[in-house]
Amino acid sequence: MHILVTGGAGYIGSHVVKQLLENKGDDITILDNLSTGHQSTVDMLKAICSNADNGASLNFIKADLSDFAGIEQIVKDGNFDAVIHFAASIVVPESVENPLKYYMNNTVNTTHLILQCNRYGVGKFIFSSTAAVYGEPKEVPVSEATPTGPINPYGSSKLMSETVIRDAAAANSDFNYVILRYFNVAGADVQNRIGQSFPNATHLIKVAAQTAIGQREKMSIFGEDYDTPDGTCIRDYIHVDDLASAHLSALDYLDSNPESQTPNIFNVGYGHGFSVKEVIDTMKKVSQADFSVEKAPRRAGDPALLISNNNRIKSVLKWQSRYDDLELICKTALDWEKKIAGNKE
Ligand SMILES: NC(=O)c1ccc[n+]([C@@H]2O[C@H](COP(=O)([O-])OP(=O)(O)OC[C@H]3O[C@@H](n4cnc5c(N)ncnc54)[C@H](O)[C@@H]3O)[C@@H](O)[C@H]2O)c1
Repeated sequence: MHILVTGGAGYIGSHVVKQLLENKGDDITILDNLSTGHQSTVDMLKAICSNADNGASLNFIKADLSDFAGIEQIVKDGNFDAVIHFAASIVVPESVENPLKYYMNNTVNTTHLILQCNRYGVGKFIFSSTAAVYGEPKEVPVSEATPTGPINPYGSSKLMSETVIRDAAAANSDFNYVILRYFNVAGADVQNRIGQSFPNATHLIKVAAQTAIGQREKMSIFGEDYDTPDGTCIRDYIHVDDLASAHLSALDYLDSNPESQTPNIFNVGYGHGFSVKEVIDTMKKVSQADFSVEKAPRRAGDPALLISNNNRIKSVLKWQSRYDDLELICKTALDWEKKIAGNKE
């Protein structure tokens, strides 16, 4: 299969490319503008590709999705069997300050990419969506049938893209899709070759790892008075390699169900969660660093509890988790942070 992976030089996309190269021997083209992705990640993926020695190939195109003429040419020339679309802007507070950046990059550029897929016969499309489409859900665990209601432009930009994908598929029986709604993604490659290098990331486990190695003086807990057992928010943290394998399951599903037209939307999470305090305690344990943690006020829009109901992805896509272990998630995140800080033990 020849697969176009947009955003493949980024955190999640690179883990999916790694698995496609190692497990399936596919021909991969990464398209990325390297705005938050990294050339060093592409170089590592090239090394992984040659070590795989299974006929896989990896091509990298530095391009921006907003270059419509350039993107059309790439899709036209590529003869792609599938597109996996990760490229996006992903910082929620930035989306509140600069919503048009999010609607342009996440919704307009996605719409244009889908247009080209339809024009040049790319029949399989896998889309990175997010639990942010649920906003502050009234029911937990959250199933795919839970009403959506994003509370920031980032979530809205993703939900609008979902609508575009569904409508395009309804009008074109040769265009099939899987939309994956990710819960809280964390951790890194267990061999510590790739990980999350996003500048100024706000993800709890990454921040805790940075604090554990002394890159930050201290970290904050935003609210200790939620209606949860220890008062801090609970989230469904999923290891990035389990999230990545969901994309391989989605490709297999689209291969064996070429005419599937039902709403192919799936939550990707473990179906259980941990509190902020539990995560911090686990990071302290695996790092053996008793770093400083301070209390801070609640942040707007943080629901107390956000946990997936993952029955659908397990039963329909036959996805199975392998790394459902908070210590392993924290340890791989920590090892990666040490590596990029040049602070190896
Ligand atoms: N990280 C999370 O916790 C999380 C949670 C839910 C959903 N997601 C979704 O997963 C996807 C990947 O997120 P990530 O965490 O890997 O982020 P990331 O920033 O590491 O990866 C995004 C990649 O897309 C590239 N990119 C962005 N805009 C582009 C453009 N216009 N043209 C070409 N390339 C462009 C960036 O350079 C980067 O390599 C995103 O769609 C995001 O919305 C992420």
